[in-house]
Amino acid sequence: MAKCIAFHSYKGGTGKTTIASNCAALLAKRGSKVALLDLDVYAPSLYTYFEKEPKKWLNDYLQGDADVEEVMTDVTQTIQGYAGGVADGGKLWIGMCNVKKEEIYKMESNTMEGSKSQLRRFILLREQLISNYEPDYIIIDTSPGIRYWSINALAVADALFLTLKMGEIDIDGTNRLAAEIYSSLTKYGARSFLLLNRVAGYCVPDFAAGGGRAAEGNHDIEGLLTGKTGMEVISSIPCYCDIQFSRKEFLTVLTQPAHPFTKQVEKLIDAVQIKV
Ligand SMILES: Nc1ncnc2c1ncn2[C@@H]1O[C@H](COP(=O)(O)OP(=O)(O)OP(=O)(O)O)[C@@H](O)[C@H]1O
Ligand SMILES: [Mg+2]
Repeated sequence: MAKCIAFHSYKGGTGKTTIASNCAALLAKRGSKVALLDLDVYAPSLYTYFEKEPKKWLNDYLQGDADVEEVMTDVTQTIQGYAGGVADGGKLWIGMCNVKKEEIYKMESNTMEGSKSQLRRFILLREQLISNYEPDYIIIDTSPGIRYWSINALAVADALFLTLKMGEIDIDGTNRLAAEIYSSLTKYGARSFLLLNRVAGYCVPDFAAGGGRAAEGNHDIEGLLTGKTGMEVISSIPCYCDIQFSRKEFLTVLTQPAHPFTKQVEKLIDAVQIKV
């Protein structure tokens, strides 16, 4: 049975695309069939990330102008080229959104009626992916905030990962999302989790020197957030300066298998396999 996971956030730049893509690639490398969807309609990034031109875009699909086979691009070969290759059965397909301004405006100017018919296309997309590709995982990258396509994407997911960037955590905003949006989705069976990113602990000198203050701080905030939102923290990923400052992060889990970020993504995947 396919598990559909959506990465969402209240604010932008929390690490959704980085973590979603790395998770998808690592799951595929380990032998899972994975469909990765860029539903960050407003600021798509998988196209520039993979530098592959699809036959058609997810925008076309959502508007009823494309079939699922025209939208999904098989990138298994791309990841096959990295150390260790891809375990038997592993597959990665990606669905990309169009970066052209006029395509984005088209989606933006959609009405409530348009949004409802778009939700039907989202549901169909999930169904067709499952029946035509038999994926183990469908991983969705969304736009931050409450744009209606993000909410539609969340509505078809089995698990919602609300990604927060430490240092910029807006507890009230997070709480509002949890109370107003997530609670209505979890009523129908979806599960929601907090995913803390760029927490202290790796680059912070205190911790590196054995002081441990940063890690304690993280535990405090995990407890506080869980207490406020009622959501479990599925993972806490430290901030790695080399990733932050790299000109273009590309699938660290493949390019640097020994990197501590890769270990964190492995842990997250283990948690996903148990909890989602
Ligand atoms: N754990 C981490 N340590 C260091 N840098 C990170 C980490 N996670 C993400 N980054 C960096 O943070 C920046 C933002 O990440 P990303 O683009 O994945 O966020 P996003 O939530 O998808 O943003 P948006 O909301 O704009 O789509 C990128 O430069 C990325 O490389
Ligand atoms: Mg993104």
